[in-house]
Amino acid sequence: MSADLISGTETARVLRAEIAERVARLRGQGLVPGLATVLVGTNPASEIYVRMKGRAAGEVGLESRQITLPEDTAEAELLGVVAGLNADPRVHGILVQLPLPAPIREPRVLEAVDPGKDVDGFHPLNMGRLAAGDPDVLAPCTPAGVIELLLRAGHDPAGKHAVVVGRSNIVGRPMALLLLRKGRGGNATVTVAHSHTRDLGAITRLADILIVAAGRPEVVRAGMVKPGAVVIDVGVNRVDDPAAERGYRVVGDVAFAEVREVAAAISPVPGGVGPMTIAMLLHNTVRAAERQWRATGLLVTESVTPVRSEAS
Ligand code: GUN
Repeated sequence: MSADLISGTETARVLRAEIAERVARLRGQGLVPGLATVLVGTNPASEIYVRMKGRAAGEVGLESRQITLPEDTAEAELLGVVAGLNADPRVHGILVQLPLPAPIREPRVLEAVDPGKDVDGFHPLNMGRLAAGDPDVLAPCTPAGVIELLLRAGHDPAGKHAVVVGRSNIVGRPMALLLLRKGRGGNATVTVAHSHTRDLGAITRLADILIVAAGRPEVVRAGMVKPGAVVIDVGVNRVDDPAAERGYRVVGDVAFAEVREVAAAISPVPGGVGPMTIAMLLHNTVRAAERQWRATGLLVTESVTPVRSEAS
């Protein structure tokens, strides 16, 4: 039997509409959330992602600003740009697109972002809060998007065995922490597998919910999935395909066609996690802005959010 499709495109559309409503209400009070994205260099994938983020921000009514710096930008110069954005009251969210070109030290740059404006959730303070189980932390957008996708598709991780494949700071590690957290979207039993895991299939077959962020095309095959599992594919890989118009096609980390015959539900690539990442960035930006306005007395209402991920 073929698995249900978990559409990130559709879920993100609903989420973006909720965010747009929330932004419209804020704008009605004269408050405009602002997002700044910083791109260093000309990595083609990063250029596409940053453009998509800027466009999505504009569509929900955020003020969005993109700063593009040359490949040979000095670390000190980039830190200066970040300091300027930290000090700018019209900027409530800052995203520095990764990877950064060498020899810029990514940790230095991520630590320079004001934790209150860190809509990527990559600052060590926010990562630490996440690790400590803080329910209100600005959480990294991709794993937060996976949780939202699971919940809205009716697959609450609570009490389930969730297996995460991958331990990157952007996805796997925060993914595991979110699943482990008490409260909404958490309370799972969590196993993390990675490149040094022996017999990956034996581990992934234990999963009620299998989240794959391995960064390798189609590593999870049908025989590695428990029948009836829910599978979320975070991977985005280009593989050569002479038959395709562009000479390549985009595939996930899961062999979709065969796993679909085993799983109960599966997210596709593209159209799965990707759109959710962007929606959660917009969501984090609005939350960050509201907090900053509350702290300065500009916003006095309780959270007006209809976005369900605010609830505990
Ligand atoms: N590069 C790949 N994913 C991300 C992300 O979520 N945020 C940033 N800043 N860079 C990325």
